[in-house]
Amino acid sequence: MENPFVYGRIVTGKHFVDREGEIRELKSDLLSGQHVILYSPRKMGKSSLIEEIFRRMGNRAVCVRINVQNASTKEGLARLIINEIVRKSYTSLEKLAREVREFFSRISVRAFVDGEGRVGVEPVFREKRELLEEALELPERMGGRRKLIVAFDEFQEVERLDGIEMERMMRAVMEKHRKVTYLFSGSERHLISLIFENRERPFYRFGKMMRLGPIGREELEEFVVGRFRETGRKIEEEAVDFILDFSEGVPFYVQALCHEAWNIGGDVDTVKVRRAMENLISSFGSGYDLIWRSIKSEYQRRLLVAMAVEDRSFAPKMELIEKYGLKTAAHLKKAVDALQEKGLIYQNRIEDFLFREWIKLNKVA
Ligand SMILES: Nc1ncnc2c1ncn2[C@@H]1O[C@H](COP(=O)(O)OP(=O)(O)OP(=O)(O)O)[C@@H](O)[C@H]1O
Ligand SMILES: [Mg+2]
Repeated sequence: MENPFVYGRIVTGKHFVDREGEIRELKSDLLSGQHVILYSPRKMGKSSLIEEIFRRMGNRAVCVRINVQNASTKEGLARLIINEIVRKSYTSLEKLAREVREFFSRISVRAFVDGEGRVGVEPVFREKRELLEEALELPERMGGRRKLIVAFDEFQEVERLDGIEMERMMRAVMEKHRKVTYLFSGSERHLISLIFENRERPFYRFGKMMRLGPIGREELEEFVVGRFRETGRKIEEEAVDFILDFSEGVPFYVQALCHEAWNIGGDVDTVKVRRAMENLISSFGSGYDLIWRSIKSEYQRRLLVAMAVEDRSFAPKMELIEKYGLKTAAHLKKAVDALQEKGLIYQNRIEDFLFREWIKLNKVA
């Protein structure tokens, strides 16, 4: 019997729970040509939601998801865009080779098939700026017969490639497009306060902002109990409550805890769920250790410990500042900003729940 729970990679189909309301809304927005910015705290299920929506679009639209994180340079991003798009639109090399040249006015390209039989396009001459502009124009030039939806996942990563210049160019190209609908998704902090809701930035209010929240408790409960049952196992009510309380509706933790608890074997009670949690924390432990060691400031470490212990009751108030030796409110603010910049905390909480538990286990005297 295979483990019915999956975490760490994108899930769709039978591994995907609920999100019916979000799917309906997003599908109709995207089909009507509304650009959308989808953001959430980490691990809420953005990438999976995008893939599931795309799957359910059937042949109503050609849908392409581009993970900006997979590109390390501007040129790399251009190639990624071109190839993801042609792969979704062509399966035959002959047809691609015949038609592809029309789509590029300023660069020459060569069509090919890779070892896995997938078609692709290789720029022959490459002037970096032109290459990216041509790549960005491609969906509009190809669009027409069918609707085209292009999702840029982990969009905050464009900043890493060429800063605001890159955003400016992308916006200039995309705002002229009529046949393509864009979906941008990524980290809550970056997408909201920095890219789409900051007047100074090129993408200011480019589309509809949509926050992806937690999955409902009932839906998750049904999923967990149902999956254990289908694989001939039982999970005690108390154990389900433990998992759902810990996860706070973030599907990643539900899947991770269930996956590990299922692996232990037999029916599941809270003792096994706790063991599953320990297994998870230790499997992520070396990564957490690296993060911890990269934090050189003793003060920031102390703050993380305080946030781990207090968790939701953490607030920048005198009583806690004194309790954890955090000196003054000004010191505190500076460290909060620094940890937020590193992506470790968000809204006065440690963002990764398992990192929080790891700190409690390893760093609290
Ligand atoms: N609708 C869902 N049903 C069941 N499990 C889900 C669902 N959405 C996400 N998950 C679980 O959460 C994990 C993380 O999902 P996903 O990678 O889609 O989130 P994300 O928001 O894109 O994360 P990141 O912040 O890393 O980009 C998946 O591997 C899967 O285990
Ligand atoms: Mg993602």
